[in-house]
Amino acid sequence: MKEKTKFVAFSTQKGGAGKTTLTVLAASYLHYVKGFNVAVIDCDYPQHSIVEMRERDLKMKEKTKFVAFSTQKGGAGKTTLTVLAASYLHYVKGFNVAVIDCDYPQHSIVEMRERDLKLALEDEHYKRLAYEQFTRLQKKAYPVVESNTKEALADADYLLPQGDFDYVFFDLPGTINNEDLIHSLAGMDYLVAPISADRVVMESTLNYAVVVKEHIMGREKSRMKGLYMLWNMVDGREKTELYQVYEAVMKELDLPVLKTFLPDTKRFRREQNASRRSVIPDERAVYAMEHGGRT
Ligand SMILES: Nc1ncnc2c1ncn2[C@@H]1O[C@H](COP(=O)(O)OP(=O)(O)OP(=O)(O)O)[C@@H](O)[C@H]1O
Ligand SMILES: [Mg+2]
Repeated sequence: MKEKTKFVAFSTQKGGAGKTTLTVLAASYLHYVKGFNVAVIDCDYPQHSIVEMRERDLKMKEKTKFVAFSTQKGGAGKTTLTVLAASYLHYVKGFNVAVIDCDYPQHSIVEMRERDLKLALEDEHYKRLAYEQFTRLQKKAYPVVESNTKEALADADYLLPQGDFDYVFFDLPGTINNEDLIHSLAGMDYLVAPISADRVVMESTLNYAVVVKEHIMGREKSRMKGLYMLWNMVDGREKTELYQVYEAVMKELDLPVLKTFLPDTKRFRREQNASRRSVIPDERAVYAMEHGGRT
């Protein structure tokens, strides 16, 4: 057993001959391609380039957060919240964001983006708006990738090396009795379930959240660090007793509720071409996101 482990060094007195490069190449080839068990002792004092590379790799890997607004309930605001959160973080907060649209077959975000692009090219008003935005922000639009539940994580992994992404949002469908969806959900760092103060919505969403928490979040291979509930489509006049009752229920079930809530507002409705909206959230939408939904 003792003899089995081979100690190997790429060695020469000549600097810059490729000692570190060859060490990493050989170690990775034997470990990842050939299936051997390998360790590296980095004595390259003081730069320790291999230790540093590994730290950088780990940091890169950890840095990008995968997030999905997810619930079984249709029309709860998954797509709307995905676009709002992605745009807010990307354009307002300066993070780098990507969106993986798995909302088959409608692919609403891909479609929105195509429509925005078309408008920005054909309509003078939008052209000017887009120009102003992009020159002011000095930032490209975030990528929107058309995908599906089965390939969502692979598509994200393919995208990651192409940019320094802080967040990737996944617009996933809601049918939980599907192995591919369960696999994709387990690959998220954070899940946010939109809720509204309606008995049917609440019952369905709470069931969903409990199942996700017990059967996906707890799994050994799950990447999930948090599952949060988010009030959406809140009627300002109504945010009273009913909400408190539901919040107590969620506390009982150990489901954390985000303090921020989204009001029910025409501004978040999808089809509003006529009102010439901007492709990024306007000040009032931003204010709503930053001040718990009060506009
Ligand atoms: N806070 C809000 N205020 C007003 N309208 C909203 C709000 N959130 C969502 N909506 C509207 O509700 C409708 C459904 O929202 P959305 O398409 O985002 O739901 P979804 O969960 O993605 O639905 P699906 O299950 O079909 O994918 C849309 O017309 C959307 O514009
Ligand atoms: Mg949707």
